Amino acid sequence: MATRIILDVDTGTDDAVALMTAALSPDLDLVGATTVNGNTGIDSTTENTLRVFEWIGMPRVPVHRGMSRPMARSQMQQLNPASRIHGDLLDLPPSTITAQPGHAVDWLIDTLLASDGDITLVPVGPLTNIAMAIVKEPAILAKIPEIVLMGGAHDHGNSTASAEFNIWLDPEAARIVVSCGRPIRMVPLDATHRALVSAEDASRLRALGTPAGEAAARFVLQRIDGYDATQPMPHRLGAAPVHDALAVCAVIDPTVLTTEFIPVDVETGGELSVGRTVCDFRFRSRQPANVHFATDADEPKFNRMLREILGRTA
Ligand code: RIB
Ligand code: CA
Repeated sequence: MATRIILDVDTGTDDAVALMTAALSPDLDLVGATTVNGNTGIDSTTENTLRVFEWIGMPRVPVHRGMSRPMARSQMQQLNPASRIHGDLLDLPPSTITAQPGHAVDWLIDTLLASDGDITLVPVGPLTNIAMAIVKEPAILAKIPEIVLMGGAHDHGNSTASAEFNIWLDPEAARIVVSCGRPIRMVPLDATHRALVSAEDASRLRALGTPAGEAAARFVLQRIDGYDATQPMPHRLGAAPVHDALAVCAVIDPTVLTTEFIPVDVETGGELSVGRTVCDFRFRSRQPANVHFATDADEPKFNRMLREILGRTA
């Protein structure tokens, strides 16, 4: 029985691999995708998402456009749209399809309320859409079996010394989600940086001979170029994390991650630490555990899963 999911994305290059993995996996039923401001602006994250589905021959997956800025604070410094890791528009043909009418937050609420409580949410961008849906209609919480999110970091940040990008861009939204009371699996940099995809892996993806394999190879090589130039992986030049795809693979096969069930909260006030996921591994806060936090990942298994799934066609 395939797991029903909704993917919430700020499509950039790793979101694109996550979207293709989710759409093509026989173990997942991708109910739809919602887009959010993040790697680039909402117009581009939405266009990029449409391009991905059209590229793999799945233009009927519903895409709904979401929040264009963070919930509470002003737009954090927008990453340079020409950032080498993502760019602004993906290197895919311009879309000829459009997003569905209606706002992503409203579609999330309507879809979850109408469901049998069997749709896992998989947010892999800033958590603005998810938090807005929870605030607008708290009744959806009873209908969410699990949230598997890419975001957070304990050992090191990537946007700042303290914080990972998805949490940092909208920390108020992230705090609402991690404290919502529903089961949460967090796929942070501590895990994604231990499941890298190399240039050799990209060659194997391209050798699959499928649209998804070819595009994934292209995006991985773009990411490797960007990471090697801006934030090289320690002792691993020529490889890069594909963060969001690991979160999707964790829904398919939870054993791809190693997790610990701990209290996690989000700093929203600190000058130097805003956006930090505060991980209480030693239970010093006396708070109950609320997050299954991934501390490690199985890199060979992750790459095998990508090849198995992206070798499929629609
Ligand atoms: O920090 C990595 C996360 O930020 C990924 O989801 C990437 O797509 C960006 O959104
Ligand atoms: Ca993302």
